[in-house]
Order: sequence, then structure tokens, then C-alpha cells
Amino acid sequence: AAIRLADYRPADFAIDSVELDFALNPTKTRVSARLALRRNPAGDSSAPLVLDGDELMLLGVKLDGRTLGPGKYEATQDRLTLAEVPDAPFTLEIDTELNPSGNTQLSGLYRSGSAYCTQCEAEGFRRITYFLDRPDVLSVYTTRIEAEKSEAPILLSNGNPIEHGDVAGSNRHYALWRDPFPKPSYLFALVGGDLGVVRDEFTTMSGRVVDLAIYVEHGKESRAAYAMDALKRSMRWDEEKFGREYDLDVFNIVAVSDFNMGAMENKGLNIFNDKYVLASPDTATDGDYAGIEGVIAHEYFHNWTGNRITCRDWFQLCLKEGLTVFRDQEFSADMRSRAVERIGDVRGLRLAQFPEDAGPLAHPVRPDVYQEINNFYTATVYEKGAEIIRMLRTLIGEDDFRRGMDLYFERFDGTAATVEDFLSCFAAASGRDLTHFALWYSQAGTPVVTTSGDYDPAARTFALKLSQQTPPTPGQSDKKPVVIPLALALFGENGQKLDLVSEDATPTELARGLIELDRAERVIRFREIPSRPVVSLLRGFSAPVRLEPAPASEDLERLLACDDDPFNRWQASQSLALRAIFGRLETGALDARGLSEALRLLLAKAEDDPALVAQALSLPSDIDLAREKGNDVDPDQLFDARMALRAEIGRSLGSELDAIHARFSAAGAFTPDAASAGRRALRNVTLDVLAAGDAEKGRSLATAQFETAGNMTDKLAALATLALLGGHAREEAFARFYAQYAGDALVIDKWFSLQAMIPEQATTQRVLGLMTHREFSMSNPNRVRALIGAFANGNLTRFHALDGSGYDLLTAVVLEVDPKNPQVSARLLSALRSWRTMESRRRGLIEARLKHIVAQENLSADLRDIATRALG
Ligand code: ARG
Ligand code: ZN
Repeated sequence: AAIRLADYRPADFAIDSVELDFALNPTKTRVSARLALRRNPAGDSSAPLVLDGDELMLLGVKLDGRTLGPGKYEATQDRLTLAEVPDAPFTLEIDTELNPSGNTQLSGLYRSGSAYCTQCEAEGFRRITYFLDRPDVLSVYTTRIEAEKSEAPILLSNGNPIEHGDVAGSNRHYALWRDPFPKPSYLFALVGGDLGVVRDEFTTMSGRVVDLAIYVEHGKESRAAYAMDALKRSMRWDEEKFGREYDLDVFNIVAVSDFNMGAMENKGLNIFNDKYVLASPDTATDGDYAGIEGVIAHEYFHNWTGNRITCRDWFQLCLKEGLTVFRDQEFSADMRSRAVERIGDVRGLRLAQFPEDAGPLAHPVRPDVYQEINNFYTATVYEKGAEIIRMLRTLIGEDDFRRGMDLYFERFDGTAATVEDFLSCFAAASGRDLTHFALWYSQAGTPVVTTSGDYDPAARTFALKLSQQTPPTPGQSDKKPVVIPLALALFGENGQKLDLVSEDATPTELARGLIELDRAERVIRFREIPSRPVVSLLRGFSAPVRLEPAPASEDLERLLACDDDPFNRWQASQSLALRAIFGRLETGALDARGLSEALRLLLAKAEDDPALVAQALSLPSDIDLAREKGNDVDPDQLFDARMALRAEIGRSLGSELDAIHARFSAAGAFTPDAASAGRRALRNVTLDVLAAGDAEKGRSLATAQFETAGNMTDKLAALATLALLGGHAREEAFARFYAQYAGDALVIDKWFSLQAMIPEQATTQRVLGLMTHREFSMSNPNRVRALIGAFANGNLTRFHALDGSGYDLLTAVVLEVDPKNPQVSARLLSALRSWRTMESRRRGLIEARLKHIVAQENLSADLRDIATRALG
């Protein structure tokens, strides 16, 4: 049934404290919960007590110490109802029995390998015990865990350790944990197992010492060193940038290999997909290191934005996620290169969020209705949510933004808050009315900003016309103008930045170079412009919008040369590439001269900022092209045009690329810092483009690099280049890679992914074959994403093959996974979110598959929701 924001009501009961007692057992875990309940003054004073459950087996209920007979309550697998409860506060004791080994959904209490672990966000706690499983019910938790010593020497829960000891007369032991901070049930966590540990400590700004620990599979301890380093840097950064200090005596992280998402911010006990913890130069790429740093920071930052201040209801998910993504992006920008971080974040937004916003799954950053909340952990809520926070900071300025954040922590600490609560702090701090700005939260769709410029040489004026329009999205046909901060600069003939003089913008707008487009259209006539200027608009990607039309080629070339905004320099390179590709699609002829010359200039200065040059050389992907095309997409045509451009760039810049590849060769020991990573990135993209222009040369360079690489970044890059070149060298390299890394699941995932992305006909068969590989498993989310996810999202020509074989493969996997793990099946199916933009034959093929899925009887709610909405 649909859940609506408009229907929100406070809970009828409050649960002040929760005492949990777990007796861990692989198939029969007993959970005793003791809840201190009272009526919530804000609730309905005559309502029955209705607790949420999900597939629960009830053993017994006691009220104020007395066992309740079956007539006194009604229990189903997913609800426990007490029609009558005392008026005064009372305690309820509930015993349930769980089968963690049988829990394949990886929600609630489950097993990963031999360890016990939990995932409770969003609604997993109700799979452990009956509860008011909603984020606005905050309680203090005490957790006792008991297990066989040999099976689970490590017993962890939220908060601080209180005591531990042996259970007399048995081979069992126990641990007692107390979390003094009231929290919602989704932040509960428990881990039990035989794990290795890396320890460290952190002294907070007020001088308290916090014991830090990262638990990993035995033997993997050395691979947790980088995560530990990232954790300490995150803790320091949150103190310095936001004045936020850690608040418990311990901070624990556990890495597990079976996990539906990236990681989880459970209070004092973060649980991670081991992909975002484990790294060594031999097994992890620079991208993996950056991912670990970002996710470690993200989960740590949730301690304040998510845990100390949580969400009133799940519609407010962006309150914690958008804000925390913004915070982790800023952290990474400070740790690495701000420009490269911004480019990467925008690439990610355009890759995942723009298509979502343009298709049948589009929804506002704060949705107003959902069927299944797990399907709303989306790029829109996370990444567009972060862009809203960034726009807010841009609009009110850094100082007011910081004061607004301080106010937010001051006013709402210890509460379950809303987007309105959050915005009210920034309105107060800045004196601005944010009512109109708030529309970003409720209106879905990516605004299109259309620009045109008119230069009048006689009057020396330049009139810039800006207009905005947001296309309709499901359930929202009429769109209103939003508040768009447009960072802008004008450049003169010689590349000089021009002063902004105009009566059509406020002095503040002109001084800051920030135009606020808050209505359908604005015309700004700039004065004292000596010659036709080049406009650098949306600098730093100041708003999550699309700009139309792209500037003319000669303007892009000028921007590439003179713009002092690194983001827009990069954007100019991408726009030139898009022009060349779409030019070829329209005329059949490829004109890459402008782009080649621009890249040649960049390569000449590669030493200045290798990472940035690497970004400029990374040409748009098939997904970028499909999104830009927008409709009637034929992946084969896009692929051909893209390959032609790569080859042309490779040919025309051959000697420069060759020189760079040689000059930036790895020297000395591997270090994962951003500067070294930038040099590797440049070298490896160089190899790739070079190979596109000269296959023989590429094959020999890539083979040599593959054989001598001293780190996974260079090795995998060489393998990726070989994968595109094909032939015997490729098969040989894949075989050797497997022989070297067999059994190392996270590395074998890369091996699965690269094979799934080979853009040739035989790949679909290859993927089907790999599904039977001994290291593949349909029950492990990382494996499924590495193989099937890479195929469906990263190999457009094969996935969209005209014989429907790619769609059949996805459909079969989705239906096979669904009964085991609905979160994974639903997410896999969202690979089809842009299906309506395909040309008609493929559209027909996909529609038939979606209808076939919807016609199945026992679909999970998660999958049915995605399939139904996708069909529209
Ligand atoms: N709160 C986690 C994070 O973003 C994500 C948990 C998502 N869980 C889920 N079942 N959808 O850090
Ligand atoms: Zn998060």
C-alpha cells in the first residue's frame, strides 16, 4: 500500500528504553526484548499498540512481568497488536526466534560467512523483534549478546562496552553494550564472529581518547590500514570544518563480504561492505582507495548528520543522505584535488541521477509517496540531495552556511527532524526567505536552462538571455521555475576576464559573479563589453541543471584556453567531444580537429595537473551519449561514433600520448595519495586512447604494462585496454589475471566486470558462462553487481542487443535473485530506467520483458514497485 508524506502522524507510543538479549545460534537465535513503553502525548490516546514485524516467529509476550495469554494480543509474522494496554508507563517483553543463516535478504540479523551481522535501515529491525520501527521513535538501547566462544569470540553492538564474561557452566560467553544516545531502531547493530582487528586511537578536540577498531576477516588486517587512516582524518576534519566532536568511548567498524549497499552508519558500530574497507596496492585501484576514503568519511559524518539528528520519517531521507554526501564530497575535495573531485561528482550525477530524473522512476529529492522505501535510496535522494545543499551554500555564502549548520546542530540535536526544520536554520542564519528555494525538494526533473547572447558592438553591450523550464515527470505535469544559482564569468578577446557591469542584476550578483535565475526568464544586459565575449556559465556546476545549447566550438576552444574555472575547462573538452560525436552521427563525417588541438595544448602542460588532463582525455561514455541524445537511442550508432572519435584522437595525438605514457611511468613505491593517483590516471587514459589509434602499439604497450605493473591500478588499466583490443593477448591476460588472484573475491569482481563490459557479440555468452564460475554466486550482492550490473549498466551495445538476448539475461537473473534478495533484484532492474528513450524496436523488446516480470505471481514488493513504475 502507498505510504504518503501527507499522512504523517506522530507515533501513539514512545519507547524510552530497549533492553535486548541475543542468544546467537546459526539457525535458532533467541531474542528477548524488553521495552519501556508509554503513551506519546502527541499521539492518539486511545489507539491500540501496534508493533511492526517482518517474518517473525513469536515465542511469548509479557506485560509488566506477566505472561500474556493468546487472547490478550494478536500476533502475525508482520504485526503484534495489543488492543488494551495500561494508561501508565508499562514494560513489554517479547521473545522471538530467528534463523540468521536462512536470512538471504541481508536485512535484519543475518550471516556473512561465519559471522553474524545486522542491517536495519530502513526497516530491518522489525525482522529482529516487534517494534515501532520508524525513525521518530528514539530509545536508549542496552544490548546483551551471548554466543559460543569459539564461534564468536568478538561480540559487538552500539555504544560503549559495559561488561563481558563467561557464561558459567558452558562454552558460551557474553558482552554487554549500552548506547547512551537515544536512537531510532534503524541504527541498531550487532556483530558476532571470529574476526581479525586493527586498533588505533583518536584524541578529540576536547581531549577525550576514543578507541578505534576495524574488524575484518582474519589475515586481511593489513588491508584495513588505509581505512583507519581515512577514519582518523574524517574525525579531525569534522572537528575543524563543522565543530563536530565524536561522542562515545569507542568507534568500531566491521567489514563484511555480504552487504546490500555500501555501508551503514549504525551508532558507534558502522558495518561496511568490505569493498569499502579493504585495500592494498596489489588488490585495490586508485578508484577503490578514493571510494574507501569517501565512504568511511560518509558513515562517520552520519554520526552528527543522521544519528544525533535523525529523520522524522523516511520521506526526509535526503535530510541525512544529501547532507552527508555533501559533507563527504567536501572532505574528499579537501583531501584531494577540489577540481577533480567536482568533476568526478558531476560525472556521477549525470551518469546516474540525470537519467533517473528523466525517466519513469523520477521522483522528488523528498518524495511524497512510496510503496517500498528501499527503492528510494537513489541517486536523486543522495546526489541531487547533495547538490541542493551545495546550492544553498552557494546562495547564502560560506559564513552563513556554517552559522546555519551550527544552528541546526544546536536546535535539533537529539531529535528526528524534517527538511523544513533544516531550512529554517539557514533562513535564520542568512535572513533569507528560503520558501521558493525549497521547491528543489518537492519538484522532480532536471531543469533545462536555455541561454542566448546578443552582442551590440556600437553600444558595447552584451545581452544574455537566460530562461528555465523543467520537463514533466510522473505525477508532476506542471513545473514551476526554481531558484537556480548560475555562476558566470565573461571573457574578452584576449582571454581576459571582464568586469560585470549591469543594471539588470543586483550589485551582489555582479560582485559575486552569481546570477540567481529564480523565474522563467531573465535578460541581463552587460555594459562596457569591448568585443563579443565568451560566456563561462554554470561555473563549478553551480546547479544540477542542463545547459542548452552548448556553446559554439570556437567558444569552447577559447574557454579551454582561458577559463580560470577548472570545471568549465573540463566541460569545454567534453562539449567539444560531444559536438564531434553528434556531428558524425548527423553528417557521417568526423571533425575532431578542434578537440585534438585543444587536447594537444593540454597534454603539453600535463605536468601542471595530470589528474585534470586525464579527466579531459576521458571522452564521454555511451551512457553520456545516450543521455545527451535523449530519445530514439540506438546504442550501436552511438558506440560507433564514439569509437571513431577515440581512434581519431589516438591517431592525431599518437606521439604526444606515447611520450606521456612513457614519461609518467610508475617510479618508486606505490602510494595512494591524490598526486600519485593523478599521474597514474593520466598515464592510463593515455594508454587507452593511444591503443584506440594504433592497436598494435597499444597491444604491446598494454601487454608490457600488464606484465610489469607494480599495483592494481596500472594492472587493471592495462587489462581494460587489452579487453577492448581483443584477440589472443586479451584471453591470455584474463587467464593470467585469474590465476594470480583466484580466491580474492574483490579482485575477481574486477575480472568479472571487465569481461562483462567487452563490447562484442560473444560477451553475452561469456557472461552466461561466468554465471556458472565457481567464484560467482547469485547470493552475494557484490558478485551479482560485478557481473550482471556491469553488463547491464556498462555495456550498452550488448545489453541492448537487437535479438533481446541482453534483456533476457537480465530478466532471468532478476527473477532468480528476487525470492532471495529483493533489494538486489529491484536495483538490478533499475538498469532499465531509461528504456523509453530507446529507439522503437528495443523499446518494444524491453516493454515485453517488463510486462513479463509484472505478470509473475510471487514478486517481492521491491521488484514489483520498480517494474510497475518503470512501465508507467
Ligand atoms: N544509510 C546508509 C548510507 O547511505 C545506506 C543504507 C541503505 N540501506 C538500505 N536498505 N537501503 O550510508
Ligand atoms: Zn548515508
